[in-house]
Amino acid sequence: MAAVKGPAFDADTVLADPERRIVVCCGSGGVGKTTTAAAMAVRAAEQGRRVVVLTIDPARRLAQALGLEELDNTPRPVEGIDTSAGGSLEAMMLDMKRTFDEVVEAHSSPEKAAQILANPFYIAVSSSFAGTQEYMAMEKLGQLHEQMVQGARDWDLIIVDTPPSRSALDFLDAPQRLGSFLDGRFIRLMTAPAKVGGRASLKVFSAGVGLANTVMSRLLGGDFLRDVQTFIAATDTMFGGFRQRADATYALLARPETAFVVVAAPERDALREAGYFIDRLASDRMPPAGMVVNRLHVTRARKISADRAEEGAEHLEAKGDHDLAAAVLRVHAELAGTAARQRSVLARFRTSHPGVPLATVPAQPVDVHDIQGLRDVGAALHG
Ligand SMILES: Nc1ncnc2c1ncn2[C@@H]1O[C@H](COP(=O)(O)OP(=O)(O)OP(=O)(O)O)[C@@H](O)[C@H]1O
Ligand SMILES: [Mg+2]
Repeated sequence: MAAVKGPAFDADTVLADPERRIVVCCGSGGVGKTTTAAAMAVRAAEQGRRVVVLTIDPARRLAQALGLEELDNTPRPVEGIDTSAGGSLEAMMLDMKRTFDEVVEAHSSPEKAAQILANPFYIAVSSSFAGTQEYMAMEKLGQLHEQMVQGARDWDLIIVDTPPSRSALDFLDAPQRLGSFLDGRFIRLMTAPAKVGGRASLKVFSAGVGLANTVMSRLLGGDFLRDVQTFIAATDTMFGGFRQRADATYALLARPETAFVVVAAPERDALREAGYFIDRLASDRMPPAGMVVNRLHVTRARKISADRAEEGAEHLEAKGDHDLAAAVLRVHAELAGTAARQRSVLARFRTSHPGVPLATVPAQPVDVHDIQGLRDVGAALHG
Protein backbone atom coordinates (compact mmCIF):
# COMPACT_ATOMS: atom_id res chain seq x y z
CA MET A 1 0.00 0.00 0.00
CA ALA A 2 1.18 3.49 -0.78
CA ALA A 3 2.70 5.31 2.12
CA VAL A 4 0.07 8.03 2.40
CA LYS A 5 -0.27 9.31 5.93
CA GLY A 6 -3.60 10.35 7.38
CA PRO A 7 -6.82 8.75 8.60
CA ALA A 8 -7.78 5.51 6.83
CA PHE A 9 -11.26 4.84 5.54
CA ASP A 10 -12.63 1.44 6.46
CA ALA A 11 -15.92 0.95 4.58
CA ASP A 12 -17.02 -1.56 7.23
CA THR A 13 -17.41 1.22 9.78
CA VAL A 14 -20.21 2.54 7.56
CA LEU A 15 -21.59 -0.75 6.23
CA ALA A 16 -21.77 -2.45 9.61
CA ASP A 17 -23.37 0.49 11.40
CA PRO A 18 -27.10 -0.25 11.67
CA GLU A 19 -27.80 3.48 11.98
CA ARG A 20 -26.56 3.97 8.44
CA ARG A 21 -29.37 3.33 6.01
CA ILE A 22 -28.17 5.07 2.85
CA VAL A 23 -24.76 5.11 1.22
CA VAL A 24 -24.24 7.38 -1.78
CA CYS A 25 -21.31 6.66 -4.04
CA CYS A 26 -20.26 9.69 -6.00
CA GLY A 27 -17.36 11.07 -8.00
CA SER A 28 -16.53 12.27 -11.49
CA GLY A 29 -17.02 10.24 -14.65
CA GLY A 30 -15.38 6.86 -15.08
CA VAL A 31 -13.57 6.70 -11.73
CA GLY A 32 -15.29 3.55 -10.46
CA LYS A 33 -18.50 4.71 -8.76
CA THR A 34 -20.61 1.84 -10.04
CA THR A 35 -17.92 -0.70 -9.18
CA THR A 36 -17.48 0.73 -5.68
CA ALA A 37 -21.23 0.85 -5.04
CA ALA A 38 -21.63 -2.77 -6.15
CA ALA A 39 -18.57 -3.87 -4.14
CA MET A 40 -19.87 -2.23 -0.96
CA ALA A 41 -23.28 -3.78 -1.58
CA VAL A 42 -21.83 -7.29 -1.87
CA ARG A 43 -19.68 -6.77 1.18
CA ALA A 44 -22.50 -5.41 3.32
CA ALA A 45 -24.85 -8.21 2.25
CA GLU A 46 -22.28 -10.88 3.06
CA GLN A 47 -21.82 -9.29 6.48
CA GLY A 48 -25.52 -9.61 7.19
CA ARG A 49 -27.16 -6.43 5.91
CA ARG A 50 -30.25 -6.60 3.75
CA VAL A 51 -29.14 -4.44 0.90
CA VAL A 52 -30.63 -2.95 -2.22
CA VAL A 53 -28.18 -1.38 -4.65
CA LEU A 54 -29.32 1.13 -7.25
CA THR A 55 -26.89 1.14 -10.16
CA ILE A 56 -26.83 3.55 -13.06
CA ASP A 57 -25.60 2.37 -16.44
CA PRO A 58 -23.43 -0.47 -15.15
CA ALA A 59 -20.97 -1.99 -17.62
CA ARG A 60 -22.66 -4.88 -19.41
CA ARG A 61 -20.69 -7.70 -17.82
CA LEU A 62 -21.12 -6.27 -14.34
CA ALA A 63 -24.85 -5.93 -14.96
CA GLN A 64 -24.95 -9.58 -15.97
CA ALA A 65 -23.10 -10.64 -12.83
CA LEU A 66 -25.69 -8.77 -10.78
CA GLY A 67 -28.49 -10.48 -12.71
CA LEU A 68 -29.56 -7.22 -14.33
CA GLU A 69 -30.66 -8.13 -17.80
CA GLU A 70 -33.39 -5.61 -18.36
CA LEU A 71 -33.92 -2.00 -17.55
CA ASP A 72 -37.19 -2.28 -15.70
CA ASN A 73 -36.73 -0.33 -12.48
CA THR A 74 -37.29 -3.47 -10.41
CA PRO A 75 -34.88 -4.64 -7.69
CA ARG A 76 -34.05 -8.32 -8.14
CA PRO A 77 -32.13 -10.78 -5.94
CA VAL A 78 -28.45 -11.19 -6.86
CA GLU A 79 -27.24 -14.78 -7.22
CA GLY A 80 -24.01 -16.07 -5.74
CA ILE A 81 -24.05 -14.05 -2.54
CA ASP A 82 -23.06 -15.74 0.72
CA THR A 83 -26.16 -15.22 2.86
CA SER A 84 -24.96 -17.25 5.85
CA ALA A 85 -24.70 -14.10 7.99
CA GLY A 86 -28.39 -13.44 7.39
CA GLY A 87 -27.99 -10.75 4.76
CA SER A 88 -29.38 -10.41 1.27
CA LEU A 89 -28.71 -8.42 -1.86
CA GLU A 90 -31.05 -7.01 -4.44
CA ALA A 91 -29.91 -4.92 -7.37
CA MET A 92 -31.55 -2.69 -9.90
CA MET A 93 -30.67 -0.42 -12.79
CA LEU A 94 -32.18 3.05 -12.97
CA ASP A 95 -34.62 3.55 -15.81
CA MET A 96 -34.69 7.32 -16.00
CA LYS A 97 -37.64 7.70 -18.33
CA ARG A 98 -39.72 5.16 -16.44
CA THR A 99 -38.98 6.91 -13.13
CA PHE A 100 -40.10 10.25 -14.58
CA ASP A 101 -43.30 8.55 -15.79
CA GLU A 102 -43.88 7.18 -12.29
CA VAL A 103 -43.62 10.67 -10.83
CA VAL A 104 -46.20 11.92 -13.32
CA GLU A 105 -48.49 9.00 -12.56
CA ALA A 106 -48.18 9.54 -8.82
CA HIS A 107 -49.13 13.20 -9.12
CA SER A 108 -52.04 13.22 -11.51
CA SER A 109 -55.24 11.41 -12.35
CA PRO A 110 -54.92 8.40 -14.70
CA GLU A 111 -56.44 10.35 -17.62
CA LYS A 112 -54.18 13.33 -17.10
CA ALA A 113 -51.16 11.07 -16.70
CA ALA A 114 -51.89 9.32 -19.97
CA GLN A 115 -52.22 12.70 -21.68
CA ILE A 116 -48.90 13.92 -20.30
CA LEU A 117 -46.98 10.73 -21.03
CA ALA A 118 -48.04 10.85 -24.67
CA ASN A 119 -47.13 14.52 -25.08
CA PRO A 120 -44.15 14.94 -27.44
CA PHE A 121 -42.78 17.81 -25.38
CA TYR A 122 -42.87 15.70 -22.22
CA ILE A 123 -41.12 12.88 -24.05
CA ALA A 124 -38.37 15.27 -25.18
CA VAL A 125 -37.85 16.76 -21.72
CA SER A 126 -38.05 13.49 -19.83
CA SER A 127 -35.36 11.87 -21.94
CA SER A 128 -33.01 14.72 -22.73
CA PHE A 129 -33.06 17.47 -20.15
CA ALA A 130 -29.57 17.95 -18.75
CA GLY A 131 -29.81 16.75 -15.19
CA THR A 132 -32.80 14.46 -15.62
CA GLN A 133 -30.73 11.42 -14.79
CA GLU A 134 -29.45 12.99 -11.57
CA TYR A 135 -32.90 14.14 -10.59
CA MET A 136 -34.37 10.72 -11.31
CA ALA A 137 -31.61 8.99 -9.34
CA MET A 138 -32.61 11.15 -6.36
CA GLU A 139 -36.27 10.47 -7.01
CA LYS A 140 -35.64 6.72 -7.11
CA LEU A 141 -33.62 6.95 -3.92
CA GLY A 142 -36.55 8.75 -2.30
CA GLN A 143 -38.89 5.96 -3.44
CA LEU A 144 -36.63 3.16 -2.24
CA HIS A 145 -36.22 4.90 1.11
CA GLU A 146 -39.97 5.22 1.48
CA GLN A 147 -40.39 1.52 0.76
CA MET A 148 -37.68 0.68 3.27
CA VAL A 149 -39.04 2.74 6.16
CA GLN A 150 -42.59 1.58 5.51
CA GLY A 151 -41.35 -1.99 5.66
CA ALA A 152 -42.74 -2.70 2.20
CA ARG A 153 -39.45 -4.36 1.29
CA ASP A 154 -37.07 -6.33 3.43
CA TRP A 155 -34.14 -3.88 3.22
CA ASP A 156 -32.09 -2.15 5.87
CA LEU A 157 -29.50 -0.50 3.65
CA ILE A 158 -29.73 1.35 0.33
CA ILE A 159 -26.57 1.86 -1.67
CA VAL A 160 -26.81 4.27 -4.57
CA ASP A 161 -24.55 4.80 -7.49
CA THR A 162 -24.65 8.20 -9.21
CA PRO A 163 -24.87 9.06 -12.92
CA PRO A 164 -21.80 9.40 -15.12
CA SER A 165 -21.63 13.21 -15.10
CA ARG A 166 -18.39 14.98 -15.77
CA SER A 167 -18.52 16.52 -12.34
CA ALA A 168 -19.76 14.97 -9.12
CA LEU A 169 -21.28 18.34 -8.25
CA ASP A 170 -23.96 17.73 -10.88
CA PHE A 171 -25.56 15.14 -8.66
CA LEU A 172 -26.04 17.69 -5.89
CA ASP A 173 -27.08 20.53 -8.17
CA ALA A 174 -29.26 18.89 -10.81
CA PRO A 175 -32.34 18.27 -8.66
CA GLN A 176 -32.46 21.94 -7.74
CA ARG A 177 -31.97 22.89 -11.35
CA LEU A 178 -34.63 20.55 -12.66
CA GLY A 179 -36.86 21.46 -9.73
CA SER A 180 -36.80 25.16 -10.57
CA PHE A 181 -37.17 24.35 -14.23
CA LEU A 182 -40.35 22.49 -13.49
CA ASP A 183 -41.82 24.78 -10.86
CA GLY A 184 -43.60 28.13 -11.21
CA ARG A 185 -40.78 29.93 -13.00
CA PHE A 186 -40.94 27.36 -15.72
CA ILE A 187 -44.64 27.89 -16.18
CA ARG A 188 -44.15 31.62 -16.50
CA LEU A 189 -41.39 31.11 -19.02
CA MET A 190 -43.45 28.68 -20.97
CA THR A 191 -46.56 30.78 -21.12
CA ALA A 192 -44.56 33.82 -22.20
CA PRO A 193 -44.30 32.87 -25.88
CA ALA A 194 -48.07 32.64 -26.09
CA LYS A 195 -48.49 36.18 -24.80
CA VAL A 196 -45.54 37.80 -26.45
CA GLY A 197 -45.09 35.61 -29.45
CA GLY A 198 -42.10 35.81 -31.74
CA ARG A 199 -38.64 34.30 -31.81
CA ALA A 200 -37.04 36.13 -28.90
CA SER A 201 -39.08 34.39 -26.25
CA LEU A 202 -38.48 31.07 -27.92
CA LYS A 203 -34.78 31.71 -27.58
CA VAL A 204 -35.18 32.34 -23.88
CA PHE A 205 -37.15 29.17 -23.68
CA SER A 206 -34.63 27.13 -25.60
CA ALA A 207 -31.91 28.32 -23.25
CA GLY A 208 -34.10 27.32 -20.31
CA VAL A 209 -34.64 23.84 -21.63
CA GLY A 210 -30.95 23.48 -22.29
CA LEU A 211 -31.40 21.66 -25.56
CA ALA A 212 -29.02 22.29 -28.42
CA ASN A 213 -30.34 24.80 -30.90
CA THR A 214 -30.46 22.33 -33.74
CA VAL A 215 -32.58 19.97 -31.68
CA MET A 216 -34.71 22.92 -30.69
CA SER A 217 -35.37 24.07 -34.22
CA ARG A 218 -36.29 20.56 -35.21
CA LEU A 219 -38.70 20.39 -32.31
CA LEU A 220 -40.02 23.85 -32.97
CA GLY A 221 -41.58 22.80 -36.22
CA GLY A 222 -45.35 22.76 -36.47
CA ASP A 223 -47.05 21.45 -33.37
CA PHE A 224 -44.35 22.12 -30.87
CA LEU A 225 -45.83 25.13 -29.16
CA ARG A 226 -49.19 23.48 -28.99
CA ASP A 227 -47.59 20.45 -27.34
CA VAL A 228 -45.97 22.70 -24.79
CA GLN A 229 -49.21 24.48 -24.00
CA THR A 230 -51.09 21.20 -23.62
CA PHE A 231 -48.31 19.88 -21.44
CA ILE A 232 -48.54 22.90 -19.17
CA ALA A 233 -52.29 22.71 -18.96
CA ALA A 234 -52.07 19.04 -18.03
CA THR A 235 -49.28 19.40 -15.50
CA ASP A 236 -50.25 22.67 -13.88
CA THR A 237 -50.90 21.10 -10.51
CA MET A 238 -47.84 18.86 -10.60
CA PHE A 239 -44.99 21.32 -10.65
CA GLY A 240 -44.90 22.12 -6.96
CA GLY A 241 -44.60 18.38 -6.41
CA PHE A 242 -41.36 18.11 -8.32
CA ARG A 243 -39.69 20.84 -6.35
CA GLN A 244 -40.97 19.51 -3.05
CA ARG A 245 -39.77 15.99 -3.75
CA ALA A 246 -36.35 17.20 -4.81
CA ASP A 247 -36.11 19.21 -1.59
CA ALA A 248 -37.28 16.27 0.52
CA THR A 249 -34.72 13.89 -0.96
CA TYR A 250 -32.00 16.49 -0.62
CA ALA A 251 -32.85 16.79 3.05
CA LEU A 252 -32.59 13.00 3.34
CA LEU A 253 -29.01 13.25 2.10
CA ALA A 254 -28.12 15.57 4.96
CA ARG A 255 -29.43 13.23 7.67
CA PRO A 256 -26.98 11.21 9.78
CA GLU A 257 -28.32 7.95 8.35
CA THR A 258 -26.82 8.89 4.99
CA ALA A 259 -23.13 8.43 4.25
CA PHE A 260 -21.34 9.80 1.20
CA VAL A 261 -18.42 7.92 -0.22
CA VAL A 262 -16.41 9.89 -2.76
CA VAL A 263 -14.59 7.88 -5.41
CA ALA A 264 -11.65 9.35 -7.29
CA ALA A 265 -8.87 8.30 -9.60
CA PRO A 266 -5.25 8.77 -8.46
CA GLU A 267 -4.64 11.58 -10.96
CA ARG A 268 -4.06 15.24 -10.37
CA ASP A 269 -7.20 16.60 -12.04
CA ALA A 270 -9.43 13.88 -10.67
CA LEU A 271 -8.19 14.49 -7.13
CA ARG A 272 -8.60 18.24 -7.48
CA GLU A 273 -12.18 17.68 -8.62
CA ALA A 274 -12.79 15.30 -5.70
CA GLY A 275 -11.39 17.96 -3.38
CA TYR A 276 -13.93 20.53 -4.63
CA PHE A 277 -16.68 18.02 -4.16
CA ILE A 278 -15.62 17.16 -0.63
CA ASP A 279 -15.49 20.87 0.24
CA ARG A 280 -18.95 21.31 -1.17
CA LEU A 281 -20.32 18.36 0.81
CA ALA A 282 -18.74 19.75 3.95
CA SER A 283 -20.23 23.22 3.36
CA ASP A 284 -23.65 21.63 2.79
CA ARG A 285 -23.15 19.93 6.16
CA MET A 286 -22.88 16.42 4.79
CA PRO A 287 -19.18 15.61 5.08
CA PRO A 288 -18.20 12.38 3.30
CA ALA A 289 -17.67 9.28 5.42
CA GLY A 290 -14.62 8.55 3.34
CA MET A 291 -12.89 8.72 0.06
CA VAL A 292 -11.85 5.86 -2.19
CA VAL A 293 -8.88 6.31 -4.47
CA ASN A 294 -9.51 3.68 -7.08
CA ARG A 295 -7.24 1.90 -9.54
CA LEU A 296 -4.05 2.72 -7.73
CA HIS A 297 -0.98 1.22 -9.35
CA VAL A 298 1.13 -0.69 -6.93
CA THR A 299 4.31 -2.52 -7.81
CA ARG A 300 5.32 -5.70 -6.08
CA ALA A 301 9.02 -4.94 -6.45
CA ARG A 302 9.18 -1.49 -4.96
CA LYS A 303 12.89 -1.71 -4.26
CA ILE A 304 13.57 -1.58 -7.99
CA SER A 305 12.88 2.03 -8.88
CA ALA A 306 11.75 3.13 -12.34
CA ASP A 307 15.20 4.58 -13.01
CA ARG A 308 17.03 1.45 -11.99
CA ALA A 309 14.76 -0.73 -14.11
CA GLU A 310 15.28 1.62 -17.05
CA GLU A 311 19.05 1.46 -16.61
CA GLY A 312 18.96 -2.31 -16.34
CA ALA A 313 16.92 -2.61 -19.52
CA GLU A 314 19.39 -0.42 -21.41
CA HIS A 315 22.26 -2.46 -20.12
CA LEU A 316 20.66 -5.75 -21.19
CA GLU A 317 19.67 -4.40 -24.58
CA ALA A 318 23.23 -3.26 -25.21
CA LYS A 319 24.45 -6.77 -24.50
CA GLY A 320 21.85 -8.27 -26.87
CA ASP A 321 20.14 -11.68 -26.41
CA HIS A 322 18.31 -10.72 -23.19
CA ASP A 323 15.29 -9.19 -24.93
CA LEU A 324 12.65 -10.74 -22.70
CA ALA A 325 14.29 -9.66 -19.46
CA ALA A 326 14.83 -6.18 -20.89
CA ALA A 327 11.16 -5.97 -21.89
CA VAL A 328 10.07 -7.04 -18.39
CA LEU A 329 12.27 -4.36 -16.87
CA ARG A 330 10.78 -1.74 -19.19
CA VAL A 331 7.25 -2.73 -18.14
CA HIS A 332 8.32 -2.55 -14.51
CA ALA A 333 9.91 0.86 -15.12
CA GLU A 334 6.66 2.13 -16.55
CA LEU A 335 4.57 0.74 -13.68
CA ALA A 336 6.97 1.96 -11.04
CA GLY A 337 6.92 5.40 -12.65
CA THR A 338 3.13 5.50 -12.61
CA ALA A 339 3.01 4.23 -9.03
CA ALA A 340 5.47 6.88 -7.89
CA ARG A 341 3.55 9.63 -9.67
CA GLN A 342 0.29 8.48 -8.12
CA ARG A 343 1.84 8.36 -4.65
CA SER A 344 3.02 11.91 -5.00
CA VAL A 345 -0.32 13.35 -6.23
CA LEU A 346 -2.03 11.47 -3.44
CA ALA A 347 0.37 12.87 -0.88
CA ARG A 348 -0.37 16.35 -2.18
CA PHE A 349 -4.10 15.71 -1.87
CA ARG A 350 -3.50 14.63 1.71
CA THR A 351 -1.90 17.95 2.49
CA SER A 352 -4.91 19.88 1.19
CA HIS A 353 -7.50 17.59 2.84
CA PRO A 354 -5.79 16.11 5.89
CA GLY A 355 -8.96 15.08 7.70
CA VAL A 356 -10.61 12.96 5.02
CA PRO A 357 -10.48 9.20 5.74
CA LEU A 358 -9.01 7.54 2.70
CA ALA A 359 -8.96 4.03 1.26
CA THR A 360 -7.05 2.92 -1.78
CA VAL A 361 -8.11 0.17 -4.18
CA PRO A 362 -5.39 -1.34 -6.34
CA ALA A 363 -5.94 -1.50 -10.09
CA GLN A 364 -7.10 -5.05 -10.75
CA PRO A 365 -5.49 -6.93 -13.62
CA VAL A 366 -8.86 -7.19 -15.38
CA ASP A 367 -12.12 -5.25 -15.32
CA VAL A 368 -14.28 -5.92 -12.26
CA HIS A 369 -17.09 -7.94 -13.74
CA ASP A 370 -18.09 -10.70 -11.32
CA ILE A 371 -19.03 -11.22 -7.68
CA GLN A 372 -15.53 -12.37 -6.74
CA GLY A 373 -14.05 -9.26 -8.36
CA LEU A 374 -16.45 -7.15 -6.31
CA ARG A 375 -15.43 -9.04 -3.16
CA ASP A 376 -11.78 -8.23 -3.89
CA VAL A 377 -12.56 -4.53 -4.26
CA GLY A 378 -14.65 -4.72 -1.08
CA ALA A 379 -11.75 -6.29 0.79
CA ALA A 380 -9.51 -3.40 -0.27
CA LEU A 381 -12.11 -0.98 1.10
CA HIS A 382 -11.65 -2.66 4.46
CA GLY A 383 -7.94 -1.80 4.30
N1 LIG B 1 -9.96 -1.20 -9.18
C1 LIG B 1 -10.23 -1.49 -10.46
N2 LIG B 1 -9.40 -2.28 -11.16
C2 LIG B 1 -9.65 -2.57 -12.45
N3 LIG B 1 -10.70 -2.13 -13.12
C3 LIG B 1 -11.57 -1.32 -12.49
C4 LIG B 1 -11.38 -0.96 -11.13
N4 LIG B 1 -12.40 -0.16 -10.78
C5 LIG B 1 -13.18 -0.02 -11.86
N5 LIG B 1 -12.68 -0.72 -12.90
C6 LIG B 1 -13.23 -0.79 -14.25
O1 LIG B 1 -13.27 0.51 -14.79
C7 LIG B 1 -14.43 0.70 -15.59
C8 LIG B 1 -15.18 1.91 -15.07
O2 LIG B 1 -15.66 1.63 -13.76
P1 LIG B 1 -17.11 2.08 -13.30
O3 LIG B 1 -18.10 1.75 -14.34
O4 LIG B 1 -17.31 1.57 -11.93
O5 LIG B 1 -16.89 3.65 -13.25
P2 LIG B 1 -17.98 4.78 -13.04
O6 LIG B 1 -17.38 5.84 -12.19
O7 LIG B 1 -19.24 4.17 -12.57
O8 LIG B 1 -18.14 5.30 -14.52
P3 LIG B 1 -19.31 6.25 -15.07
O9 LIG B 1 -18.98 7.64 -14.61
O10 LIG B 1 -19.22 6.09 -16.56
O11 LIG B 1 -20.59 5.75 -14.50
C9 LIG B 1 -15.20 -0.61 -15.50
O12 LIG B 1 -14.92 -1.36 -16.64
C10 LIG B 1 -14.65 -1.29 -14.26
O13 LIG B 1 -14.69 -2.69 -14.35
MG1 LIG C 1 -21.16 4.23 -13.42
